[in-house]
Amino acid sequence: MAYGDFETLELELGDDGVLHVRLDRPDVRNAFNGTVVDELTKAFRHADNDGDVRVVVLSGKGKSFSAGADLAWMQEQAELPQEDNERSAAVMAGAFLSIARCSKPVVARVHGHALGGGTGLTAAADIAIATEDTSFGLTEVKLGIVPAVISPFVIQKIGEGRARALFLLGNRFDGREAERVGLVHRAVPADQLDGVVEGIVAELLTSGPRALGSAKALIRAVHGHDLDDAIRITSRWIASLRATPEAREGMAAFLEKRKPQWVQ
Ligand code: COA
Repeated sequence: MAYGDFETLELELGDDGVLHVRLDRPDVRNAFNGTVVDELTKAFRHADNDGDVRVVVLSGKGKSFSAGADLAWMQEQAELPQEDNERSAAVMAGAFLSIARCSKPVVARVHGHALGGGTGLTAAADIAIATEDTSFGLTEVKLGIVPAVISPFVIQKIGEGRARALFLLGNRFDGREAERVGLVHRAVPADQLDGVVEGIVAELLTSGPRALGSAKALIRAVHGHDLDDAIRITSRWIASLRATPEAREGMAAFLEKRKPQWVQ
């Protein structure tokens, strides 16, 4: 599938089915403006629809993963009439949603700085691996604003209790602390970052492609239900899933002591 031209992202799809989406505004530490927002949404929609894509790796070129929203762009949005101002925020939320809801697993490779919306992008990914010295922070209050658009994604990842402290303090914290609060899956020394990301991707590639999308959707479907409702949902879920060709192949391969040949 051709991905077309991107101005603020670099896209690369390997033969292994791994789509690399790299934020490409290194001069402003990959701060995101309206173009980045539109292009991220477009890239993740492509990933959703392209059967050749098995896993997406989101990263940033240059010194930082992302310094969050482009503050010059934020200032411009503030000058818009309320309706347009609100629409642009909703479009930005759509970009985060396209990552969180992507039917393919999204791995964030985080280094340097992941501030404001950069912390938000980290939270929107399924699995984030960061360097121990990455600088994270919900720094918005220091700018007289709040982490509004990213809040659902961050709260979902770290919980309300931790969000209350981090949203209010606005302090910067490192990758080790991000791992402790559950924002990232692992924090590793910088020289191990690519190896650990590759290991995570390799692990994902051994699993059923549809099962991975289904696992993401399952968590959403079960969340917030009491046990009785959840059991109704999950019984129906596994009944449909285990009848699919992919599941039949996965289970047969185990019993026949061979590697599965995943069918898309
Ligand atoms: N929006 C717009 N421009 C930004 C930006 C942002 N969020 N973050 C960095 N930039 C720009 C800087 O203004 C600077 O531009 P210039 O070269 O024209 O002066 C350039 O990117 C490089 O930034 P600089 O601060 O010189 O780099 P650094 O490596 O010393 O520090 C950061 C990097 C990310 C620590 C620092 O830029 C920073 O704190 N940025 C703001 C992060 C933030 O609070 N984000 C929340 C937004 S809601």
